[in-house]
Amino acid sequence: MSRINGGINRYALDALDVRPDDPVLEIGFGPGDALRTLAARPGGFTVGIDPSETMVDAAAARSRALIESGRLEVGSGTVSRIPCQDARFDRALSVNTIYFWPSPEEDLREVARVLRPGARLVLAFRVQRTGAGDAAVPRQRGQTSQASLSVVQVWLEGAGFREVEVRRRKFRVYDAAVVSATKA
Ligand SMILES: C[S@@+](CC[C@H](N)C(=O)[O-])C[C@H]1O[C@@H](n2cnc3c(N)ncnc32)[C@H](O)[C@@H]1O
Repeated sequence: MSRINGGINRYALDALDVRPDDPVLEIGFGPGDALRTLAARPGGFTVGIDPSETMVDAAAARSRALIESGRLEVGSGTVSRIPCQDARFDRALSVNTIYFWPSPEEDLREVARVLRPGARLVLAFRVQRTGAGDAAVPRQRGQTSQASLSVVQVWLEGAGFREVEVRRRKFRVYDAAVVSATKA
């Protein structure tokens, strides 16, 4: 997974534009490539959540020194119920997870809850072109409908984000969108 998703994670991190002491949340960190980069910031603080106990255990084992130094916390959680207090973070990142979110419109409100006003959110994900040339977020787990990028923008605005910017990028094995937005 790391080899395939390395490019999109690097691109998403660029868009996140993290400042040295921003508290950052990563949702669905998986193998943890972006998480390790974020946690390596001297003086920074990063929280990673993932519903997979396997991913959480692997990240905890691999990043023990960063956790012990207080720069990183990893734990079990989903985007629908983020185990963090309100207005905790200045940045939030989620790469290649939106297809698994049970209710993206509501889930984005939960993301907004843990962000401070002015905080930046970056979502990066694969897209598929539709017949009309629009791009859609592939849905998984038996869901038949697809969300176009303009629908993602409407979800973000409904959840209290503004300055939504969508950038398209072709990676080696897929087309992707990197969407950044600011919490109002
Ligand atoms: C394709 S992997 C991407 C991992 C990593 N972000 C990357 O780019 O390499 C998807 C990740 O999303 C997590 N995930 C699945 N459902 C989720 C949910 N409802 N909320 C948050 N994360 C979820 C999975 O456990 C998995 O680690």
